Amino acid sequence: VQKIAVLTSGGDSQGMNAAVRAVVRSALYYGLEVCGIQRGYQGLLNEDIFPMDLRSVGDIIQRGGTVLQSARCKEFMTLEGQQKGADILRKHGIDGVIVIGGDGSYQGANKLSKLGIKTMGLPGTIDNDISFTDYTIGFDTSVGVVVDAINKLRDTMSSHERVSIVEVMGRHCGDIALHAGLASGAESILVPEVPFDLKEIADRMHNNFACGKRHSIIIVAEGAGRGEDVAEQLHLQYPNLEPRVTVLGHIQRGGTPTPRDRNLASRLGDYAVRMLIAGESDKACGIIKGELSMTDIDQVVNTKKDFDHATYELALRLSQ
Ligand code: F6P
Repeated sequence: VQKIAVLTSGGDSQGMNAAVRAVVRSALYYGLEVCGIQRGYQGLLNEDIFPMDLRSVGDIIQRGGTVLQSARCKEFMTLEGQQKGADILRKHGIDGVIVIGGDGSYQGANKLSKLGIKTMGLPGTIDNDISFTDYTIGFDTSVGVVVDAINKLRDTMSSHERVSIVEVMGRHCGDIALHAGLASGAESILVPEVPFDLKEIADRMHNNFACGKRHSIIIVAEGAGRGEDVAEQLHLQYPNLEPRVTVLGHIQRGGTPTPRDRNLASRLGDYAVRMLIAGESDKACGIIKGELSMTDIDQVVNTKKDFDHATYELALRLSQ
């Protein structure tokens, strides 16, 4: 490859900027030309493409969001859209693209590679729902946001001896709920990967207060249900329980990325450039047991990530 482009796509995540910076600076270091594409695949179709230099990624490593902005693009899901995108890239002399995003973004990269453009995917999503990587860029920061919110909720819930129900993001994946749950000592963690019985949970909350606990935290992953529905069920079972619901929403996608996310993004961004130069294409980059690795995108998008049941059991055991 001689000239590459970088784009961010799908829901943004903290650390995407650090990844863009790593891609641009590594590409320049290795003697490639590099362009940015604004607003993901939509920007590609709008030909929103511009050259990037060392200075264009200055002062962004610490910022949340993405300076390249992001979009979810319906047109790019069609063959015509993908063909148009590949033609535009060729017109600009771009022979490699690094896509930072989640599952949908990887599918776009996969299609582009079938149309003759070399591609690499970097896992940029708070959800941690991508296989063949232990962590995604943004997950660590997002878990920190949730834990910080729960710390604050604990104060007021203890004062009033209440149950706090915290609904968190993650789409179909329970990892944010699990990791935030373990780190914050939640009494109950509802995730889509583990069946649960609301009656049992209500009994547990009731018993917690009976045996002297002053508050209880229930984390509900959005893929497992709505916090409001859980609250309603608890109140029906035990009218004296007065659960309060907090939906953290998009706050989980904001804020300055943690050092862990920045470093992951920096390592992965550089790795993706080096692998493109080595002639690889259509690969998803990840980190497995601390080591950089890459896997065919086809395999990544068709494999469901394993859920860590042992850590789930541990979180519940420790919060008794
Ligand atoms: O994939 C990231 C994510 O934040 C999910 O956790 C959530 O379900 C979704 O995006 C929200 O999407 P939007 O920003 O389009 O509302």
